[in-house]
Amino acid sequence: MAKRKQKFSQEPFEVAITDITHDGRGVAHVDGKVVFVHGALPDEVVMAQYVKTRKDYDEAKTVDVLTASNDRVEPICESFGICGGCSLQHLAPEKQIYFKAKQLASNLRKQAKLSFDVDAQMPALRSPSEGYRFKGRLGVKYVAKKEKVLVGFREKFAPFIVDMDRCPVLEARVGNLLPQLSELIGSLTLLDKIPQIELAIGSDQVALSFRVLEEPTEDDLAKFKAFGVEHNILIYLQPKNEASTFLLSEVEDTEDLLNYRLMDRLTMAFKPYHFTQVNPVINEQMIAQALKLLNIQKDEKVLDLFCGLGNFTLPLALEAGSVIGVEGDKSLTEWAAKNAARNGLDNVEFYCTDLTQNQDNADWMQLKYDAILVDPPRSGALEMMAYLGKLAPKRILYVSCHPATLARDLAELVQYGYEVTDAGVMDMFPHTAHVESMAFLVKKD
Ligand SMILES: C[S@@+](CC[C@H](N)C(=O)[O-])C[C@H]1O[C@@H](n2cnc3c(N)ncnc32)[C@H](O)[C@@H]1O
Repeated sequence: MAKRKQKFSQEPFEVAITDITHDGRGVAHVDGKVVFVHGALPDEVVMAQYVKTRKDYDEAKTVDVLTASNDRVEPICESFGICGGCSLQHLAPEKQIYFKAKQLASNLRKQAKLSFDVDAQMPALRSPSEGYRFKGRLGVKYVAKKEKVLVGFREKFAPFIVDMDRCPVLEARVGNLLPQLSELIGSLTLLDKIPQIELAIGSDQVALSFRVLEEPTEDDLAKFKAFGVEHNILIYLQPKNEASTFLLSEVEDTEDLLNYRLMDRLTMAFKPYHFTQVNPVINEQMIAQALKLLNIQKDEKVLDLFCGLGNFTLPLALEAGSVIGVEGDKSLTEWAAKNAARNGLDNVEFYCTDLTQNQDNADWMQLKYDAILVDPPRSGALEMMAYLGKLAPKRILYVSCHPATLARDLAELVQYGYEVTDAGVMDMFPHTAHVESMAFLVKKD
């Protein structure tokens, strides 16, 4: 097939970077047009090469740094710049989180007219910047031309899997296992029938769940099992949807086989396909900070919206009179309830519902709460804000993975008589542009 002709020059050009975008690209201007330059930092002069051109802006990548910023560091990964997984490895980790705190401030100022400059924020919660990722999805592709199975993340500028030997942000037991995974899959009859591997790491166990598009042979199954034994990994296969996932490794399949522990007191069992927080170091700190801000009393009733497996619900239940968790994924609410029972907590109840829908008649909407925690997906929880206004708890804690939707929703809560007293970022995803943050609100009298 003929290669699509590029409509732009491939000739590197020199450009001065004046700013940085929310997703970590340098901003420059060429002949009056904005160019977003991947891998470039403010105050740098770089040689760049176009990767995309559009009507209103162009995109380029850095090919050489002529004048480096003082904040520039050597990336920790050889695939940085090619791999779509990370975008900030060239920026010192302490500057990455500062940059994220500035983004939080800017969103809060622009969308909610709230003044939380970096100095006015809670100190950022910090994480090790390597080996922090305990949850993720690896792409897999057999490339006949290379006679190799690639296991890794997608490229930034092309729909291919990066040919990489290690990933330093993944927990090391998996991050250093990419060549062995490639070899394993390359030895199977299924070598071109495995599109992805889901990785989920608990406090003691590493689980890898292989999506299989065809039934493995007996020999394939034996190889999977042997790999699991050799690397001390639980092997799961997923033939169809998530619920079809089953444990292949020959170990007793107890319900808490895969679990993470919290606060030295709670054991949270989960399945490899369940939502769990990516970074356990930040998760512990995040829960501790949430509990401190909420300061729950023994006789109080708490609502935990978008509660998942009960990651906040159960810690809250240790302090509250009672807690209700609400979540849209049935399997998560079922496992949340099992986790409550496993930990001897009988003051918790869970409901499964789509929180973007009308909740006027929901049982849990008919109760009074002293405090509400909200931890929605990136899209935020706009539909829930009027309900929070109606429930009118004294304190609200909003945990967010997207500052733009956080700011939008906080602006609503301010309309309902809340004051944002604290806000701050958390280093949940070092080297990526994702911003995790938390805001605490109290009802004004
Ligand atoms: C950021 S996670 C937080 C989960 C949990 N609080 C934790 O810390 O592990 C967001 C949760 O919202 C749930 N969710 C997403 N969309 C939803 C919706 N429309 N209604 C209810 N829950 C939803 C997801 O299943 C996920 O468990």
